Amino acid sequence: MKKIDYTSPKISKKAQELMDRDKRVLFGAHTRTREIPLVVDYAKGARVTDIEGKTYLDFGAGFAVVGTGHCHPDVIDAVNKQIKKLIHISGSDFYYEPQIELAEKLIKITPGKFNKRVYFGSSGAEAVEATLKIARHFTRRPRMISFIGAFHGRTFAGMTMSGSKKIQRARFSSLIPEVYHIPFPYCYRCIFDKTYPECTKKDFDGMPLPHCLSYLTDVVFERLIDPEDVSLILVEPIQGEGGYIVPPQEFLPALRKIADKYGIVLAFDEIQCGLGRTGKWFACDHVNTAPDIILIAKAIASGFPMSATVGKAELMDPEVNAMAWRPGAHGSTFGGNPVIAAAGVASLDIIENGLIENAAKVGDFLKQRMMEIMNRHKIIGEVRGMGLMIGIELVQDKGTKEPFPQCVTTNGKNIKEVITGECFKQGLILYGAGTSSLRISPPLVITQDDATGALRIIEEVITDVEKQLS
Ligand SMILES: Cc1ncc(COP(=O)(O)O)c(C=O)c1O
Repeated sequence: MKKIDYTSPKISKKAQELMDRDKRVLFGAHTRTREIPLVVDYAKGARVTDIEGKTYLDFGAGFAVVGTGHCHPDVIDAVNKQIKKLIHISGSDFYYEPQIELAEKLIKITPGKFNKRVYFGSSGAEAVEATLKIARHFTRRPRMISFIGAFHGRTFAGMTMSGSKKIQRARFSSLIPEVYHIPFPYCYRCIFDKTYPECTKKDFDGMPLPHCLSYLTDVVFERLIDPEDVSLILVEPIQGEGGYIVPPQEFLPALRKIADKYGIVLAFDEIQCGLGRTGKWFACDHVNTAPDIILIAKAIASGFPMSATVGKAELMDPEVNAMAWRPGAHGSTFGGNPVIAAAGVASLDIIENGLIENAAKVGDFLKQRMMEIMNRHKIIGEVRGMGLMIGIELVQDKGTKEPFPQCVTTNGKNIKEVITGECFKQGLILYGAGTSSLRISPPLVITQDDATGALRIIEEVITDVEKQLS
């Protein structure tokens, strides 16, 4: 393989000055790269404009956050109205309508026809923290199950439950004890070298069991731990940060069966894949499987910081079940903030009124066209995903599925950096995911025309990169 002679995108003097000021005062663990040196001035819908006035098509949505698009007028209206009435009073101690209204809406749209309760936090990781506490408090069991490739945030609970990149956990020991990571069905690169659907020949109490889950039932639960010591199974119905990986349809129902058998709380982290992105309200709706707890954040308030942990009432309300956490056991000063809750109510209304259908329609179009591009190019090994959550797996060789080496350029860049950097030069914001994938996650307002424009850029860049590599 020839090395690419790659130059990072140009940075204007004005942008460089701001980046230098930023560098002097902001912390050094940010993952910014010189491949997307974007200094933003403003954004609207699916377009972002930098301080030089150059406009980009946004295929990242601020990491799947601005589902309703940037600065949706209805969200701005809702915030403007609320901000004049009440900005803060603390929802853990007092009552106000926006928080109640948002909780009512969430209870309605989340899967499961049972009584539910909602806890509001300010970030996805706080929903993860809350989930661990709910499950441990309710079950009084110490052990937990999570997945290789998972990403659940940066707090100690989030970091402990994650299994995506070692840099995210390195030097932070000790993590929360008693968490067992098991393989996620990343079928393209199955660590057991099995092939789907042949790998689902076994069953668990009558439910087809993907082979990788038999590692849980036959190895972890037989040799390492008693399932009755396990409080929680936490899983992303589609892995996000891990590479936009969609598990086979048997996976979540099998997990449901296992959790029910042993009285384990089953929680779905839909922080990235939820709220319409996959063409249904939630990714787990595609397989009609309801968790005991669902974690929601990112798109909930169109960019205002909020998360919601929505769970069975018995897990979260001691008046329903005495094992549930009691008043004072958990809380948050900012959680359920009235202005952000108003933005949340507006966001869910917007998503409900056409964006889920749009995600399904434009998502199908994008996936179909991306597959055609894959068939024309040798460095795309797989295109996968649902709705507007599409992963593109990059490979050196389709036959062997050999990934690219860490550095493919003369100046030390990896393949994801080259492609996202070249797309950026052409006016498209695109992110990498996992070790060797690209992620397509535009705002749900994206049009078919915008999708066509983005596909053209992606194919041109891939064609050019392939030429330079051969
Ligand atoms: C699936 C998933 N869970 C949890 C988180 C953490 O969310 P936050 O960064 O808001 O804490 C993320 C963030 O990317 C995520 O994708």
